[in-house]
Amino acid sequence: MHACKTFYYIRPHRVIDLDSQSRDNQKISLELLNQKKYMKILCYPIPKTEEFKRRLKELETLNVTEIEFTGTKQVCSIPVLGKGYVGIVVKAHRKNQKIALKIRRIDSNRQSMEHEAEMLRKANSVNVGPKLIGATKNFLLMEYIEGILLSDWLRILEGKSTRNRLRHVLRSILEQGWKLDKMGLDHGELSHAPKHIIIKPNDTPYLVDFETASISRHVSNVTSLCQYLFIGSPLAQLIQRKLDVIKRDNLVNALRSYKKNRIRRNFQAVLEKCGL
Ligand SMILES: Nc1ncnc2c1ncn2[C@@H]1O[C@H](COP(=O)(O)OP(=O)(O)OP(=O)(O)O)[C@@H](O)[C@H]1O
Ligand SMILES: [Mg+2]
Repeated sequence: MHACKTFYYIRPHRVIDLDSQSRDNQKISLELLNQKKYMKILCYPIPKTEEFKRRLKELETLNVTEIEFTGTKQVCSIPVLGKGYVGIVVKAHRKNQKIALKIRRIDSNRQSMEHEAEMLRKANSVNVGPKLIGATKNFLLMEYIEGILLSDWLRILEGKSTRNRLRHVLRSILEQGWKLDKMGLDHGELSHAPKHIIIKPNDTPYLVDFETASISRHVSNVTSLCQYLFIGSPLAQLIQRKLDVIKRDNLVNALRSYKKNRIRRNFQAVLEKCGL
């Protein structure tokens, strides 16, 4: 076996090599980052020398030693883990520690990453989300979740254990929603979450991206997740094809009771109506 590679085990005979998805991944130390192509990633979408220098200093204070350009998405032909409206997420290193680094886009409507860091810290307190490592105005450092997005995982899930594995993953996702509901933290983007649930090779799901999370809003994590996973999305249809068909009306009623009174018993009724 290749010691330094990351393989994604789906079934014994079916293996995805995550590294092969971007063969040209490169580890670049901070000193070598000041090439135009990398400046574009650090100061996306408009590279500016002064801003770049400030950002480099921030990375130093966070003890980031290298950035590794790898991943299935591309920005200016450079592989990255993800790209959104707020940030670009890249794999990075702090000496021997692998981390995920979210870089605030220059054109983002957020002034800093501090709010997201605060929300992630709260989620972490109930063991939800990648572990927060540090944050500055322009960067958020967190645990690197080596895995694939839920929709991709679903598409390649097959074989005898499909139903059990899927049930286990869906249940764990809803349990995380319950933990967040219970503590009063609303994630905010779970009713349509194609980019916000990552599954690790050991079938552990992670909710990511707490930048629109709030502790002052009405919480709707469980209801939003049910909407996305069981009621109204193409993904819900795909899930239904792999599991026993559920009665939508029963689930909607259970969710109504749960919304009125967010207690464990009502949450368990929701799980039951989801067939979990
Ligand atoms: N901790 C992590 N480990 C590995 N990959 C991650 C991690 N956090 C985010 N990603 C990847 O980066 C992508 C973008 O992250 P995120 O959703 O936080 O960015 P964003 O700018 O807020 O995006 P959007 O505007 O779509 O909400 C995710 O969909 C995921 O694929
Ligand atoms: Mg976001």
